[in-house]
Amino acid sequence: MKNIQFDFNNLFDFCVGAQHGVTDEDVREISGSVANAHRHLEKILSSRESRLRLNLEWAELPYQSAQSLREIKKLAAEVRKYDNLISLGIGGSYLGLKAAQDALCPAYFNEFKSGRKKSPRIYFEGNNLDPDTLSVLLKNLNPKKTFVVVISKSGETTETKAAFMAVEAWLKRAIGKNYGRQIIAVTDPESGTLRKKVNQAQALDKLSFRSLPLLKGVGGRFSEFNMGLLHLAVMGIKIEDVLAGAASMRKICSQPELEKNPAYLYAALHTILYRKKNKPIAIMMPFSETLKSTADWYSQLLAESLGKKYGRKINLKSDNTEEWLADKSRVVNVGRSPISCRGTNDLHSIQQNNIEGANDKVITFIRVEKFKEEIKIKGEPADLLNGKNFSDLIKLAQEATEWALLQEQRPNCAIILPEVSPFSWGELLFFLEMATAFEGELLDINAFDQPGVEGYKNYMYYKLNKPGLPAETVNQIKNNPLKKDPKYIL
Ligand code: PA5
Repeated sequence: MKNIQFDFNNLFDFCVGAQHGVTDEDVREISGSVANAHRHLEKILSSRESRLRLNLEWAELPYQSAQSLREIKKLAAEVRKYDNLISLGIGGSYLGLKAAQDALCPAYFNEFKSGRKKSPRIYFEGNNLDPDTLSVLLKNLNPKKTFVVVISKSGETTETKAAFMAVEAWLKRAIGKNYGRQIIAVTDPESGTLRKKVNQAQALDKLSFRSLPLLKGVGGRFSEFNMGLLHLAVMGIKIEDVLAGAASMRKICSQPELEKNPAYLYAALHTILYRKKNKPIAIMMPFSETLKSTADWYSQLLAESLGKKYGRKINLKSDNTEEWLADKSRVVNVGRSPISCRGTNDLHSIQQNNIEGANDKVITFIRVEKFKEEIKIKGEPADLLNGKNFSDLIKLAQEATEWALLQEQRPNCAIILPEVSPFSWGELLFFLEMATAFEGELLDINAFDQPGVEGYKNYMYYKLNKPGLPAETVNQIKNNPLKKDPKYIL
C-alpha cells in the first residue's frame, strides 16, 4: 500500500525568505523542545493508566480486537435494512462521521442508489438548534423505514439532546412501544442521562436502545476511530482498512527523529511559524471536493485542542503518573486559528486575501494523486481544455496556487494522498491527531480538554433554569449581563 507523503519545502526560508520561512537555525533552536516533547508524549502513551487519565487513549484506537469489530458490523447489518438513518451528534460526535462519508462514499450519496449500494440514506442532525432542517426531515421521512443513531459521550449536550427528544417522540408516535428497537445510542459506558436511558430500556427489552460504548480516555474530537466505526460499517466501508492506515501512521509517527516523523515535523514547523514568524492563521485547503469536511474536522481538532487560555501545570503523583491542571497563574491565550476551505472553489474567494492580505497565514494543501473517477474534456480541437482530464487540471491548479503563494512569500505545505481510500484517509486522520497532540506538547498546554466551550453552555443552562449550577457560575452570569445600549441598535 502506498503511504501518504508530505512536502514541507515551502515552509522554509529558501522558498519564502527568512522573514516568513523557517531557517535551519530555527529548527536547531526548537530541537531541544522537540526531544523533550517526544520523551514526554512517549511516557504518557506507554502507560495505559496515564492514557486513560489524560485522554490519550485515542493513540491505541488503530489496534482494535476482531471481536469488537464483528459486533459493530453485526449492528451495522441491522441498520442497513432500513431506508434511512438519522445520525445525531455534534462536534466530535459528528464531524468525523461527516468527513468519512464525504471522503469515502461516492458523491451525492443520498441521492443515488447506485452509489449507495445497499446502504441507507444518511442524514446528520443534532449538530445545530436550527429548527428549519430537522423539521423538514421529520415531515418527509417515513419513521417505519428510519433508524436513529444518537451519539453523545456526555449524553447531555443540548443540541443533540433536543434533536433526540424530537426524533424519539416522532418515532414513538409512529411505531408505538417498540420504537426503541430503531435506536442505537453511542455514549459513555457508565455516566450521563443517555446511558441511564439505555440501561432503563435494556432492562425491559434487550432489543431496545442497543448501545455501543465509547472507550474511556478518548475525547470526542479524537474518537472517529471509535464512535465513527458503526457509521463506516453502515456505509459498507471496510473498517479494517481505515484502522490499518491509522496503525501504519502511528508507527511512522512514533519515531523520535524530526526528519523521519511527519507529525512532529508538521507540528514543529508550524510552531516556529506561529511563534517566530507571526503566522497565527492555519488554512487547510484540500484540492478535492470530498475532503472539505475532513478540513472542517481538522478545524475543530485544532481549535478545541490548542486554543487555550492557561498553560499546563503537571503534578507528578506518587505512582509516577501525571495529573494535568490549568495553571491559572499563567495566561497564555495560544492556538492557531483554523480556516477550512477547498480548492479550486475557494481560489475564487479567500485566495485573494491569502495572496495579498496580511502575511499571517500558513496554508496546508491536501493533494490527491489519483481520483476515483475521471472526466476527459471533449471540445473544439483548438480549445486549450480539449483533451484534458479534470484530475490533471485540479492538480495543475494546486501547483499553480503553490507557485502564486511563493511569489508573495506566503508559506505553505502539502499532504499528498495517493488516493482517497479508506487506508489513506485513516493515515491522514491519525497524522493530524498526532501532529495536534505534539503541537500541544510544544505549546505546553492540555490539548485534550475544551473548557472554553462551557461558557455558552452555562449561560444557556442558567436561562433554562437548570438546577445545580455552581454559585460562582450563577453569580458571574448575574453580575455580567449583556449590554444592549439602544443607541447602537439600528
Ligand atoms: O471534542 C469534544 O470532546 C467535543 O467536541 C464533543 O465531541 C462535543 O462537545 C459533543 O459532546 P458529546 O459527545 O458529549 O455530546
